[in-house]
Amino acid sequence: MATRTLTGITPSGTLHVGNYFGAMRPAIAAQDLGECYYFIANYHSLTTVFDPEVRRRNTLGIALDWLACGLDPTKSVFWRQSDVPEVCELTWLLGTLTPMGLLERAHSYKDKTAKGIAPNFGLFAYPVLMAADILLYDTTVVPVGKDQKQHLEMTRDIAIKFNQTYGETFVVPEPSIAEEVAIIPGVDGQKMSASYGNTLPIMGEEKALKKKVMSIVMDSRTREEPKPDGEELPASQLLKLFAPADEFASIMDQLKAGGYGYGDLKKALFTHYWEFFREAREKRAELAANLDHVESILQDGASRARAVASEVLDRARRNCGIV
Ligand code: ADP
Ligand code: TRP
Repeated sequence: MATRTLTGITPSGTLHVGNYFGAMRPAIAAQDLGECYYFIANYHSLTTVFDPEVRRRNTLGIALDWLACGLDPTKSVFWRQSDVPEVCELTWLLGTLTPMGLLERAHSYKDKTAKGIAPNFGLFAYPVLMAADILLYDTTVVPVGKDQKQHLEMTRDIAIKFNQTYGETFVVPEPSIAEEVAIIPGVDGQKMSASYGNTLPIMGEEKALKKKVMSIVMDSRTREEPKPDGEELPASQLLKLFAPADEFASIMDQLKAGGYGYGDLKKALFTHYWEFFREAREKRAELAANLDHVESILQDGASRARAVASEVLDRARRNCGIV
């Protein structure tokens, strides 16, 4: 069977440099290697976000960011989850075969409720909706971060149980977990994460982004002091992502030798970071000025996704005896 890669992107806020290198860039590169299905998981966002305007804004923002960064709708199928509501029916079919114990063991549910998010049925059933997302498209591979590994295992368990109970229905997908993907540090040196408030956003206004770069936490060594560990500094790790290799090497040499200060390093970082996303920023502004076009991309994606979804859902309905 041909490879069909699928992943969902939760519209929970603005995207940052960690998301870009950890998730977006590999997903965009995968477009040239096989069939790709990418969707904005707005049904999932209902479990934790309760402001409709925020949801609409984040959903549109994600669409603009991904298209601006190189998601090519002529190569990939890109849609809004809720435009293919078949996924809700499949969630029910799968839910009736999902053991309570399986859901009770879900780390993400335990983590979210421990953080004070009020438990609701949707939050508890989240892994079943995710399984439906994946199984509805005969997906073969799901690239996800480590935190989603358990959800993938649950998806496989549910698919196998359905197939055993009602006969061969679903493709059992393989996870693709990039264990070794570098963890991009944030401005405080910890893992860059929306929930730590330490991000460098991929889009934004020049002054605000510069301020963020200038706020990167450094030690107290003076400009003159040699810094033999220069390459390990979070600011250097960030610079490495954006600067040409020869320029990066030359800056590392200067840091080691002494006479190159943290202000210089941050200025170089800002220059390259700003330049790196220039084209995407321009593309985003063009897209934002033509929202009808963006909507038509999502609608076209939804109709292509729906063609697959309705076939798979029919198969599932027939096999379990509701038609
Ligand atoms: P956040 O931690 O900001 O909430 P998510 O958990 O929503 O980010 O992650 C979305 C995607 O971005 C995942 O595939 C994840 O692996 C990737 N990602 C997030 N932060 C980083 C980071 N600091 N370094 C590398 N990849 C990251
Ligand atoms: N739960 C995923 C996350 O929080 C998003 C997601 C929803 C997803 N449905 C999916 C990822 C299906 C992969 C496949 O990041």
